[in-house]
Order: sequence, then C-alpha cells, then structure tokens
Amino acid sequence: MTSKVMSMGIFGMQSFMVEVEADISGGKFRFDMVGLPDTAVSEAKERVQAAVKNCGYSFPFNHITVNLAPADVRKEGSVYDLPIFIAVMIAARQLTDNFKDAAFLGELSLSGDVRAVNGVLPMVIEARESGIKRVFVPFENAGEAAVVEGIDVYPVKNVRQLLAFFGGDSGALSVLKPEKTIFCDEEISDFSPDFSDVCGQHAAKRAIEIAAAGGHNILMSGPPGSGKSMLAKRIPTILPDMSFEESLETTKLYSIAGLLKNKSGLVKTRPFRSPHHTVSAPALSGGGSIPKPGELSLAHNGVLFLDELPEFQRTTMEVMRQPIEDGEVTISRVAGTLTYPCNVMLVAAMNPCPCGYLGHPVKECTCTAAARARYRNKISGPLLDRIDIQIDVPAASYREISGSQKEESSKEIKIRVNRAREIQRERFKGTGVTCNANMTAVQTRNYCVMEDDAAALIKRSYDALGLSGRTFDKILKVARTIADMDGCDIIKREHIFEALTYKNVNI
Ligand SMILES: Nc1ncnc2c1ncn2[C@@H]1O[C@H](COP(=O)(O)OP(=O)(O)OP(=O)(O)O)[C@@H](O)[C@H]1O
Ligand SMILES: [Mg+2]
Ligand SMILES: [Zn+2]
Repeated sequence: MTSKVMSMGIFGMQSFMVEVEADISGGKFRFDMVGLPDTAVSEAKERVQAAVKNCGYSFPFNHITVNLAPADVRKEGSVYDLPIFIAVMIAARQLTDNFKDAAFLGELSLSGDVRAVNGVLPMVIEARESGIKRVFVPFENAGEAAVVEGIDVYPVKNVRQLLAFFGGDSGALSVLKPEKTIFCDEEISDFSPDFSDVCGQHAAKRAIEIAAAGGHNILMSGPPGSGKSMLAKRIPTILPDMSFEESLETTKLYSIAGLLKNKSGLVKTRPFRSPHHTVSAPALSGGGSIPKPGELSLAHNGVLFLDELPEFQRTTMEVMRQPIEDGEVTISRVAGTLTYPCNVMLVAAMNPCPCGYLGHPVKECTCTAAARARYRNKISGPLLDRIDIQIDVPAASYREISGSQKEESSKEIKIRVNRAREIQRERFKGTGVTCNANMTAVQTRNYCVMEDDAAALIKRSYDALGLSGRTFDKILKVARTIADMDGCDIIKREHIFEALTYKNVNI
C-alpha cells in the first residue's frame, strides 16, 4: 500500500512543503529513501524502525520505499523522522489515513520520543499559508509553533501518545491554543541592565543616545575599565520596542538556529550579540552542513557588539562589511545561495593604543609610535567607514564614579529615542528606509537642509580638515538625527558642530 503525509522543509529563511510518500510492496526487506535526502535524513530509517518496534508494533520487513517530494530540493536534518514514521505506519496498515489536513515535524529517538528540531516557527507559518489545519510538533517546540494563529498545534512527547490519539483516545494529546502563548522574555529580572547603573559618562551617553535615535553605528575608544562594555550592553534597553514583524523575524532566525528555549514564544527584546574576536567567518555569517544563521543574523534588529575591535582578524572584519551595509548575509552552497537578514546596529569598542593609556590625563602611554600605528592599522578602513559616530570614552572622574548623582534611566532615554524615530518614520514613509543612518545619497541631500551658518561651518571644516565626500554625508546624517532630537526641521549650526565632534576620535 502507498501512503502520503505532509511535512515541511527549510532553506535559508524560506520554508516549503514536503510530501513524504511511503510504499510497501512484497519481497525481501529493503528500506530505500529517495528525493535528495542528506545523511541525517537517510538515518531516519534506523530511527523509524527502532521506534516502531519499541512502541509495540511490528515493523513491516518488506520492500519499503520512502520518497520525499519535491525531489529536486535537498532535504536536510532529522525533521522528517516523524512524518516518515506516520507514512510507514499507514502504508503498513497499522494506522488509518485521515491526515490530509495535517503536517508532521520532529526527530525520533530509538525509543520513540519526539525530539526538538530547528526552524519550527517558519515551517508552521508556511504550513498555515499552504492550507494545513493541524500540525504535530515536538513538545519542546510547541511554544514557538503556537505563535502562529489559524492553525492547530499539537505538542507531541512521544509516538505512543500520538498513536493513542489517532486510535481514538482524544485525551492523549491536546491542542495548544495561541492565547496560551508564553513570551520568552516577559518576566523582567531584577538584574536587567539599565543606563542608570553607569555613573557619569554623560558625553558617551549622549553620543549613544544619538546613535540609537538615528540607527547609527558607533565606535568607543578608551582606557581599560572606563565602562565601554558596560555602556554597550545597555544600548538595547534604549532602542525602540520591536514591532510584531521585527519580533517575528528575529524569532524565526533563533528558531532556525535552534536557540529558542523550551516553551518560549516570540523574542520581544532586541538581541545583543557579542562575538569574541577569535570568531570564525562561518560562525559570523552562518552556514554549515545544515545551514544556520550566524552571529550577524542573531543580532538582527538588535546590537552587534565587537569588543576589542583591533583584535578581530582583518579577514573577519571584511566578512562583516558587506552584510552590515546591506542588512543581509548571503551564503553560497552547493544547493544554491541563501540569505539571512542582518539589520544590526554595530557597536564597537577599543583601547586607544596597545597599553590602553594614550591620551590618559595621568597614566603614561608606554607604546612606541610604531606599535600605536600598527594597532590602528589593524582596523579595516572600509569597516571604519561604516561607523558614523566615533567617540572617546575616558575614565569617569572620582566625583562621578563615587555615584552621588542620580543617573537617568534607560526608560527616560528611550522616550526621547522613540520621539526621534517617530519623526524618521514619517519622513521615510513608503521608501523602505527606516532611519537617518540608512538614508541614500539623494535622501541625504533632500532631507538635510541647513541654515546658512550651519552650511558655512561644514564648508569650513571640510576644507580645513580635508574631509571626504563620505565623511561629509555621515556628518550630515548625524546632524539630521541631532536636529530630529531637537524637533528642528532645518539643521542648525549647533547640530553640525556636535556632529563634527563625533569624527574626532583618538584613532
Ligand atoms: N562609569 C561607570 N559607572 C559605574 N561603574 C563603572 C563605570 N565605569 C566602569 N565601571 C566599573 O568598571 C567595570 C569595568 O567596566 P567595563 O568592562 O565596561 O570597561 P571597559 O571600558 O570595557 O574596559 P576594557 O577596555 O578593559 O574592556 C564595570 O563592570 C563597572 O563595574
Ligand atoms: Mg570591555
Ligand atoms: Zn599606549
């Protein structure tokens, strides 16, 4: 007998329906798997066979053929174990076929437990789009699946439970309603970082607020212990709340990467990723035999923090450059190229020199001029070009660090950031651009209208400092953000003046 059940596959962010067909004919035992399965899919044979036996059914030792359609798309991973199991059970007449409207996802253990798989959220979304009404998923993936409305999600712990349910025991499984969805980061911990923890550093905080308000990348340079990492970690707390679409996209990436915690729903807080400087190129951009998003994409809609920037290999920096500019990473594979989104705010930190004390008011820098030059040269110029705001973060004074002054909270700062973003949303409506940092050259000319004395100031600086056209554009963009924060349509001299200071870093 021949049977057919539905499952789902994924390639990059793209999900697609997979038909799992099983045919059992007489003759000697053979288990063939066709339809471009990878090694993990082929191993499903062993797991399905063991699972059938171990839950008390007899395995059909005849000629079994399993076909995964469409046959021209490579099938990867262990997600097809469960649908193959169901298809074989139907073909062996151990289960009645009434699964036209259902899809199955999940890996099997030898004992028949259903194990978590990656990418359940995007797959369930696609299942709903394709008209599937019921989806049977691993228990551990139920939280992410239940985010999708308009489809019944059945969390399954093991195949015995599933067979009992299909055998008429309606209590064996229950559908998870969307309203039961648990958000993974709703509970606010007592120790969540906040800008009020950082004493003083008002200049740095101001620059960070501007960066957050306009979506600008930022580089902080300062001596060890001045608070650079501390400041960076708090940046997601002042970025605007994620929209539902942003949340869904980030959650999809975490789903595909297999990083959603048990029972978790949508990711609601902006990610903060801080890859170590020894990170490999594939770990940054993603890929692997079963492709997964890398650090760049895990920071999608959040902050990518590169601490100790000069320690990153030049090749690593080069890998990041294009994706940071384009907002997506492209990975080439035998089966074709795939892309993952990576719309990130880049935050980088470094010391001004190898010893860390160049420009320090008290401590002396012990580096040679050559060592300093080498250190600076380590940073890729093209990457630096993508950073609009560059600031010095000197150590806070004793008066500041002794903490007598009450510091502003992230919540207060975020209100101002939101206000500036609102102006940008209006400005760029329907253009695909979301913030000042991403303005095109034409938009920069159109939207950065200056008062006469502001234009005179930037002209004088351009000539005196020997600025490039690119630097000119960056100054305009940052000035645009500062003016937005001030509620000014036309850019004033003071806005240009402040924007100019953010090019003046000690590197
Ligand atoms: N302005 C500050 N307010 C409160 N605590 C601070 C401040 N600056 C530094 N600290 C304290 O010093 C510690 C070290 O700061 P942090 O790790 O951010 O320094 P850093 O600038 O990143 O140094 P490095 O260059 O060595 O990476 C913080 O964990 C915090 O306890
Ligand atoms: Mg640090
Ligand atoms: Zn030094």
